[in-house]
Amino acid sequence: MSTAKKDYKKITTKSLIDMKAQGEKISMLTAYDYTMAKIVDSAGIDVILVGDSASNVMAGHETTLPITLDQMIYHASSVVRGANRALVVVDLPFGSYQSDPKEALRSAIRIMKESGGHAVKLEGGKEIKDSIKKILNAGIPVMGHLGLTPQSIYKFGTYTVRAKEEQEALKLIEDAKLLEKLGCFSLVLEKIPAKLAQQIAESISIPVIGIGAGSGVDGQVLVIHDMLGMNNEFSPRFLRRYMNLYEGMTSAISQYVEDVKSKDFPNEKEQY
Ligand code: KIV
Repeated sequence: MSTAKKDYKKITTKSLIDMKAQGEKISMLTAYDYTMAKIVDSAGIDVILVGDSASNVMAGHETTLPITLDQMIYHASSVVRGANRALVVVDLPFGSYQSDPKEALRSAIRIMKESGGHAVKLEGGKEIKDSIKKILNAGIPVMGHLGLTPQSIYKFGTYTVRAKEEQEALKLIEDAKLLEKLGCFSLVLEKIPAKLAQQIAESISIPVIGIGAGSGVDGQVLVIHDMLGMNNEFSPRFLRRYMNLYEGMTSAISQYVEDVKSKDFPNEKEQY
């Protein structure tokens, strides 16, 4: 296996499959707006996910359920304008694909047409296979999402690690193989045991991107607000914080308040 990194000018679904074949790990982060997408893209990320986690981190909802298709399209179109190299994957929000395959296709088409995103992501396996097929038949690339699927939080009742029991693990393996067979180009595995995630990644040819799924998968994804430390209250074991932006921003803003109050800002050089 060659370890030489290929220089991908633009990331496509095929690039990700090539990366897996060549043993190159895939980097993925969320973004929800133009400025953040531009920074993330220029830092060299492979995939930008316009996640429905926007419902939590952008809109302040407790779950991902309330965000609408129109809101996802707004976020995604802003991200697309900021991304030059990365592949932009957009979450189909809760309620936009579960009722029937035709509705799922209509929602996916709206995302592709109105946002300019490059692919869609859906949560679930066997239960939504007809919807996935319908979307794929229209030529729209699909990323799967198994394990902890936050759109089903009220069914699970908790955000704890999934598939620790054998029965759930077996269903997960079956679902992952089904998604590969249907033609999904990639798959997210969220919050499952690392051993199981590695076993799945090794048993299918499409790239498996993990979040809380250990190091034996083909790539990693994190929510940008979490990895930049913008939210001090969310500290799951799988999260690595690369900055403490919450503290950095708070102290910068406090300093600004102080400077305005004390008439230090603006000074002579900062005015016309
Ligand atoms: O919405 C999201 O941010 C996601 C990631 C956690 C994978 O689906």
